[in-house]
Amino acid sequence: MYATNNNAVADDAEPTAFRKAEKKYKLYYDQDSKSSKKKKQPKQVDLSEVLDFKSIIDSYNQNAQLPPGIVPVSCDFDRPVFGLEKQPGFYFIPGALSVEEQCQWVRESLTSFPQPPNRTNHNAIYGPIEDLFVAAKEGRMLVEDEDAPTGLDDCGGSNACIGHGDGRRWRFYNEDIARSKAKTSKSIPATILLRKLRWSTLGLQFDWSKRNYNVSLPHNKIPDALCDLAKKLASPAMPVGEEFWPEGAIVNYFGPADTLGGHLDDMEVDWSKPIVSLSLGCKAIFLLGGKSREDPPLAMFLRSGDAVLMAGEARECFHGVPRIFTDKGNAEIAHLESHFVDEDDFLEYIRTSRININIRQVL
Ligand code: SIN
Repeated sequence: MYATNNNAVADDAEPTAFRKAEKKYKLYYDQDSKSSKKKKQPKQVDLSEVLDFKSIIDSYNQNAQLPPGIVPVSCDFDRPVFGLEKQPGFYFIPGALSVEEQCQWVRESLTSFPQPPNRTNHNAIYGPIEDLFVAAKEGRMLVEDEDAPTGLDDCGGSNACIGHGDGRRWRFYNEDIARSKAKTSKSIPATILLRKLRWSTLGLQFDWSKRNYNVSLPHNKIPDALCDLAKKLASPAMPVGEEFWPEGAIVNYFGPADTLGGHLDDMEVDWSKPIVSLSLGCKAIFLLGGKSREDPPLAMFLRSGDAVLMAGEARECFHGVPRIFTDKGNAEIAHLESHFVDEDDFLEYIRTSRININIRQVL
């Protein structure tokens, strides 16, 4: 599943227990602040029931005590791993990634992961787009070139073809050229396309229209470094003697009001293998429900660097992300801000964003 805007948590849906929790935590703005000239303020929400693995690990490290229902997982992993008594197959690894690793995966998520032949949500309208992050940095605009040959299929990203979809071609131009072309052609700034980037898919490509993997689509293998990381992180959840083979990954990009509605990830063949899910950027609330949407979900914070594993029974549990926090007091990204101090573009993006990379064995 991929991040969508606020409407993903539709207001007219059946009020299941999962839906009620989504509504409880989603971002609303204070009524008063909307009408005033002041910046809109997020409505206060009661976070007292949200499980906080950061304080859990702090007290565990001090006195080896855990709150009821949280269990330590014994494994060879070099950091504490926790499980939930009532949710077998769910694992939480607080601070699994170092700050350097977090920065590295933020960079990759914005520069190399959206590169063709990897697909993004923009493919459906514009075809493959190369170097979106660079184009945004350089203030370029994507312009529809109506004179270009039509009827081309998705090229999978050859150099000759900057973008084509719908039988039309789209190219990046500098702003002044784009402005003159814009009189007759459609155009959109790369900065807006970057902001509207919702997902990219690595390795075996997930086809959102069919909600399944399309193994015939052109694809690259998951990058080795991501593959190695996923294998290492998957180990606490792996059946004894078996190996995890990362074959596909979905990268979700969340802006301030974006949410990920309750869903199951059920298109992979072997559910005994975990989904390895990494959080980068602004803090979020994750809801872990049961096998029915009627089961009340457990809410927990996900911070930059945390990893979650869902295997076995947990693969059958509804889950989603109803909220990300982009305000200074709650985002908890000061460590990223100091690392990105000379990299303004990453800094600007991550200050109001969250990225989730979830890696799967598909076949
Ligand atoms: C997912 O469930 O697909 C992603 C969860 C997350 O964003 O942490």
